[in-house]
Amino acid sequence: MRVSRNKMAPVKSFYLTTPIYYVNDAPHIGHAYTTVAGDVLTRWHRQRGESVWFLTGTDEHGQKVMRTAEQNNVAPQAWVDRLVADAWKPNWSALNIANDDFIRTTEPRHTERVQKFLQSLKDSGHIYAGKYEGPYCVGCEEFKLPGDLIDADGEKLCPIHSKPVELVNENNWFFKLSAFTQALLDHYKNNPEACQPESARNEVISFLEGGVSDLSISRSTFDWGIPVPWDTDQVVYVWFDALLNYATAVGLTDDPNSEGGKKFAQTWPADVHLVGKDILRFHAVIWPAMLMAAGLDIPRKVFAHGWLLVGGEKMSKSKLTGIAPSDITDHFGVDAFRYYFLRAIPFGSDGSFSWEDMSARYTSELANDFGNLASRLAAMIEKYCGGLIPAPHRDDVLAQALETTVDKADKAMVALDFQGGIVAAMDFCKKVNGYVTEKEPWILAKDPANKVELEEVLYNTAESLRALAVLLHPVMPATTEILWQSLGAQSSLGAIGDQKLSQIATWGQLPQGAIVTKTPVLFPRLEIKE
Ligand code: ME8
Ligand code: MG
Repeated sequence: MRVSRNKMAPVKSFYLTTPIYYVNDAPHIGHAYTTVAGDVLTRWHRQRGESVWFLTGTDEHGQKVMRTAEQNNVAPQAWVDRLVADAWKPNWSALNIANDDFIRTTEPRHTERVQKFLQSLKDSGHIYAGKYEGPYCVGCEEFKLPGDLIDADGEKLCPIHSKPVELVNENNWFFKLSAFTQALLDHYKNNPEACQPESARNEVISFLEGGVSDLSISRSTFDWGIPVPWDTDQVVYVWFDALLNYATAVGLTDDPNSEGGKKFAQTWPADVHLVGKDILRFHAVIWPAMLMAAGLDIPRKVFAHGWLLVGGEKMSKSKLTGIAPSDITDHFGVDAFRYYFLRAIPFGSDGSFSWEDMSARYTSELANDFGNLASRLAAMIEKYCGGLIPAPHRDDVLAQALETTVDKADKAMVALDFQGGIVAAMDFCKKVNGYVTEKEPWILAKDPANKVELEEVLYNTAESLRALAVLLHPVMPATTEILWQSLGAQSSLGAIGDQKLSQIATWGQLPQGAIVTKTPVLFPRLEIKE
């Protein structure tokens, strides 16, 4: 055996992050929207055979979290510990989120690396002492410009939180953000894929063109934060602390030969930072400037999706308009929840949640088009083929439609067009329903002379369902797993999560004789909600 002396550099992972959410309260469906989207996209890339790293977590410092803890008469650390353990982590497992890591900004692995990073920026001359005087919104944890605010009877309100801003007047440490304005402008002008959708990119470009001031990156009037290493009377500004999570979680500042350093080389730069449009500027302006200052690669893409609205306004914890994910999953199930928002709202646009629209899509797309096809097929194979997959056969029209479908779905998904990807799969599902309706296997079954044709029709239908299960697996992991079992695919083809997208369109994979079993209905009829 030849032993290669050349150590191959490990393949760069596809690295995707969600925002780290404030733990001032439990998650609502807005947070779930982003995290489910991230989960679907990373599952998709895993099924493309790529090495993937998917990070989510919680943002635990700052005045917003500190004040909520105070209002509840709990120390901030105890407050965040409790919410993370009782609300955030259980919520993600309930939604079947397969994140590889979960970072909390109060963890030493984060705080230590933030301090190291900050010290290096100070040492290289990117940080100076100054005085900040101006409005601050604790809801956004953001220093506001006068032009950002709305005027309500002489009072200045944050347009996102509709709450009065506070005046800050402090001696702080400043980051020379303005020095990176031109480099950032060049970057977004030259790399359209670096900030998406188009509307987000335009917003960032015009913001940069308007000029950018240096940023206060420390606070001195409270202590719930990471101490500034050379001035421990100050804590690091919560956004400066929080943005760094994406890099501290994978080993930023560690020795290149250490575990952390190797992880960093393998994951950085991030491929996609998935965020809501409320926090676009932090991610597309401040964050890359921090990285540029440190001489590090900047993220390949920031994608800012739209808002879930309630009464025309952004659903939010602070406004108490949040709907808990369990309110919806208790009624529709987890997979329908994962499906609905990505299917119904073009990713990048705002959308409103309505029980009526969700019920309508659940019934027509999931229960009728998809679920019924699966249960009809299992029933017919049991009745006409003794419960066994018949001999392979290829319907050219279906097989070609499948090839086109896989191609279309893949192009859409990797471009974060979840709606396009899902619609491609569901259109194929409609085609298969049309095929079954046209071939009428239940009529063929009446005459033994049609046995071969009957078996061909059922084989083609089963193969189509095999492909649909894999295509929809990233979106609806649990339901498609049940379908996979029902088709008897597990024992012959292996686990559904191991199926490669590039192989889906290869026709004839289900082997003759695989045992088909009837399973509980994939999408049960909805109970009437009182
Ligand atoms: O901003 N519609 O945390 P956050 C869609 N800690 N998405 C929504 C939403 C809605 N109505 N409401 C929230 C923070 N989201 C910071 C982030 S990252 C370094 C620090 C989602 O708890 C969306 O992704 O306010 C939004 O950007 C994020 O939650 C804000 O969560
Ligand atoms: Mg927020």
